[in-house]
Amino acid sequence: MTTAADPNAPLMRRAMRLLRRPFRGRRPEGTAPAPTSEPFVEPFVFTRLAPNVACRLDEIPSETTRGERHYLYRHFSSFWSGAYDVVEIGPFLGGTSRAIALGMLHNPRRRSGTVLRTFDRFRDYFDVPRLASFLAPMIASGALSAEDFESLGDRAPFLDIFRRIHDSQDYAECLVPSDDGVPDLPEQESSGHWMTLPAGFVTDSVFIDGCKSWYGTKAFMRRIASAAIPGSMFLFQDYGWYTCFWLGAFVQAFRDRFEPIGNVDNTYVFRLERPLTIAEIEARFPDSPEQCGATRLSELLEARIAEATERQDDFGRIRHTLHLAAALAYVDRKDEAREVLRSAERLQGIDPHRGVIEAAWRAPTYTPTGTVTLGR
Ligand SMILES: C[S@@+](CC[C@H](N)C(=O)[O-])C[C@H]1O[C@@H](n2cnc3c(N)ncnc32)[C@H](O)[C@@H]1O
Repeated sequence: MTTAADPNAPLMRRAMRLLRRPFRGRRPEGTAPAPTSEPFVEPFVFTRLAPNVACRLDEIPSETTRGERHYLYRHFSSFWSGAYDVVEIGPFLGGTSRAIALGMLHNPRRRSGTVLRTFDRFRDYFDVPRLASFLAPMIASGALSAEDFESLGDRAPFLDIFRRIHDSQDYAECLVPSDDGVPDLPEQESSGHWMTLPAGFVTDSVFIDGCKSWYGTKAFMRRIASAAIPGSMFLFQDYGWYTCFWLGAFVQAFRDRFEPIGNVDNTYVFRLERPLTIAEIEARFPDSPEQCGATRLSELLEARIAEATERQDDFGRIRHTLHLAAALAYVDRKDEAREVLRSAERLQGIDPHRGVIEAAWRAPTYTPTGTVTLGR
């Protein structure tokens, strides 16, 4: 018997649903399957993680959901090839880095010496009091001490804290942090030190949580283009977040390369079908939303909405609608942005999204220098 607390309950429910389907009979050899009106939406159900793994994925305060971290662990322990280094941008304190690196460590295919290369600015994210309060659970448990925060300067650098959290862990051999980010504006390219990958570097897995601007996305993709081989998995953490319209716009600009695979909460996964090149990125993705223009932005994001609608992805359909409003507000087409938000409020299935819609009415997105405000 299956009870509510039984970890296999979702599997059982799915199995029961499949069993209750009418038997369609055997298909004669060589004929195509009969068209069906039923959507292909059976979820792939994961078994629960062992408690000693699950509790480690919850230990580091993170800006990702538990479901996303559990998925990352599963992805890298079970689906990753094990053959090449993995790249992450935007680890913050490493909640996602732990999920990925622990998964890599537990993957029997992992080739010895393969690592997660994780890139961040490691500063200018939270101020010191906010960082300390975010990390309060780790201070309370003794994993970090209050003194770890005392000497931090104004820009609240957190690479040392990152190292304190991860260096003593069993997966530390799989984790290589670099305090190099990507520029958020083209004029920053020539100053400062930015993310670089060694010549000839190859990867087949890229986790993106630090592309917080249009140009930052372009700058990261330019750097990863020659390294990512066909079949590479691109896992975009912010893809479904209402402000980050640049990720959907980039994917749509390269829709001939990115095959959608699935999502967990805001994280959407795409498979790269053919390599990206820097020349194509230059040709298809201008340096700013303004250069792209309202018409092209609308084309790109309306195509994402249409595709999400077609595959019955309600979450994606609603979030891409918010992305369209965000993009229009960004390029100062605020009346049109308001119209899109009003239409979003009338969409079927909108109730779980009411909180983010209210936030989008106040500030649908942000630029590298500030917030884009709207108002009803
Ligand atoms: C939402 S947090 C990442 C959350 C993290 N993955 C976790 O598990 O909690 C975003 C991270 O992106 C980083 N970031 C923002 N802009 C960046 C840039 N231009 N280059 C590199 N990292 C950046 C921030 O410093 C921050 O650590």
